[in-house]
Amino acid sequence: METISLLLLATQIVYILSFCTIKVYLCPCRSDDVKHILVIGNRALTTPEFSLNDIPGTSGRIDILCRSINSAFLLSHGIRRDVRLHLLMRGEGDPPKIITLDGRYLRHLNPDERSTGALLRIALKKGVGLKRGMVQRSTPGITIRRGDFRDLIEDENFDNIIYLHEMASDIREMHESLESLLQKETLFVLGDHIGVNADDEKILEEFGAQKISLSPNVLHTDHCIIILLNEIDRIELKYD
Ligand SMILES: C[S@@+](CC[C@H](N)C(=O)[O-])C[C@H]1O[C@@H](n2cnc3c(N)ncnc32)[C@H](O)[C@@H]1O
Repeated sequence: METISLLLLATQIVYILSFCTIKVYLCPCRSDDVKHILVIGNRALTTPEFSLNDIPGTSGRIDILCRSINSAFLLSHGIRRDVRLHLLMRGEGDPPKIITLDGRYLRHLNPDERSTGALLRIALKKGVGLKRGMVQRSTPGITIRRGDFRDLIEDENFDNIIYLHEMASDIREMHESLESLLQKETLFVLGDHIGVNADDEKILEEFGAQKISLSPNVLHTDHCIIILLNEIDRIELKYD
């Protein structure tokens, strides 16, 4: 009788533990080699009313965000699964919104801006009327939430924040310190064609962000992302 109760107890424990494992496995929580990138879309429309036939002219420059997506995820024969790209959209409609693309689950991503614009339009449609703190799933790997820069930082609790800016220490002089920063969850912050405003710079300062430069020139946001990820590849793969 005692043996049977012990067996029953063991079965129950195994059953409960199996759920815990599934929960931990499915939890989209912290993982140490993830690179978070934030692009601030100062005027990016926050409702889906833009034309895919004229993205630059009708969307508050969502074309910059589409190219950033391309740069953040697309390799010649694959997707960068270790990247999470956050697009902060503050333009007309229903601001502020954050669309997050998670490389682990991303699907339907093609190199052209039009189809990427269509994915963002679907996410914006799903995000209509969202309340602060709510996250809505869109197509695979894409979610939308209501929130601004500070909300993102507080929600995600990043270990390090790096502000990409042309007037700063050269990334090539910082490979060693960057290597140790990359062991933890790090957020890289970039502006769009307008840049990063003074209020956001104050937030960056408040959270102790480090400033890093990629080039002596002022570059386009999407080009910065390619250079940044290339530098990270070189560090992580010891490609000297
Ligand atoms: C087109 S630039 C912004 C230009 C904007 N008119 C300004 O003066 O800030 C877009 C973003 O790319 C990043 N960026 C541009 N050049 C960079 C560089 N050389 N090093 C690091 N980040 C850079 C910055 O985050 C910048 O906000």
